[in-house]
Amino acid sequence: MKHLIDIKELSKDEIKELIEVAKDIMQSPEKYSEKCKHKKLATLFFEPSTRTRLSFEAAMLELGGSVLGFSEAGSSSTAKGESVSDTIQVVGCYSDIIVMRHPKEGAPFVASLKSSVPIINAGDGGHNHPTQTLTDLLTIACEKKRFDHLTIGICGDLKFGRTVHSLVTAMARYAGIKFVFISPEELKMPEYIKEEILQKNKIEYVETNDLEKYMGDLDILYMTRVQKERFFNEEDYIRLKDYFILNRSKLEKAKKDLCIMHPLPRVNEIATEVDDDPRACYFKQARYGKYIRMALILKLLEIK
Ligand code: CP
Repeated sequence: MKHLIDIKELSKDEIKELIEVAKDIMQSPEKYSEKCKHKKLATLFFEPSTRTRLSFEAAMLELGGSVLGFSEAGSSSTAKGESVSDTIQVVGCYSDIIVMRHPKEGAPFVASLKSSVPIINAGDGGHNHPTQTLTDLLTIACEKKRFDHLTIGICGDLKFGRTVHSLVTAMARYAGIKFVFISPEELKMPEYIKEEILQKNKIEYVETNDLEKYMGDLDILYMTRVQKERFFNEEDYIRLKDYFILNRSKLEKAKKDLCIMHPLPRVNEIATEVDDDPRACYFKQARYGKYIRMALILKLLEIK
């Protein structure tokens, strides 16, 4: 049985295959509308979510399956002290596949050790968010038509932003990738990502706290919010939360075909005036999320 806990578990060929299936679903959704008939997807969200939970639920419904689950730990028996591994063993009796988000790093991995059905990590603390990365990869495939020879700026909270850790891990496998990490000193990319992913694979990167300095070089600008829920004190959050705000004037030197991405939710880091710019891809990105999750459900349930 296969789970998806970390994006590293998927080979480049498997990612290519998922993207091909997602594109086919976008073109011919009717072909897939009964693929998961009689299958049930459980969504166990111990942390808030809009896109990940609802796109997984929409994905399963559009595949002809059913959904069940909870959207906050307080409405489950976790509130009575039940462990993750007990919850998983029970939910496996009622469903064919489980999507799980948890504030503790590694919780979906622990769940996968006890589960009788496939587990999908929908975000674990500040660690990983592999299905957001699949969403990002489908967005890049559709909007940039390639994964190689791209200069990717990643801006905001690079320390706690789990989506960017998974994205860097995935993109570092393609040729000619360069990264520009744009963050305040306190929210820089963790050393383990720089050492284990970037330096080991000889990937070029620069670090800066100036959003405009490298703007003209970028093919992709990936904005992120400052992760309030992971800060130890509110004072630091308030000081850093509006450090970068992308607006029209900051895009003056940007390429005409820049792709502006954001995993969402957005707080202040992209001014709404940017939403009408044809380079703004973040709402399209949220839409792509449903299709790649449909492809992933089919893969993990081994449905052709
Ligand atoms: N991008 C993302 O994970 O959004 P949600 O927190 O709304 O699921």
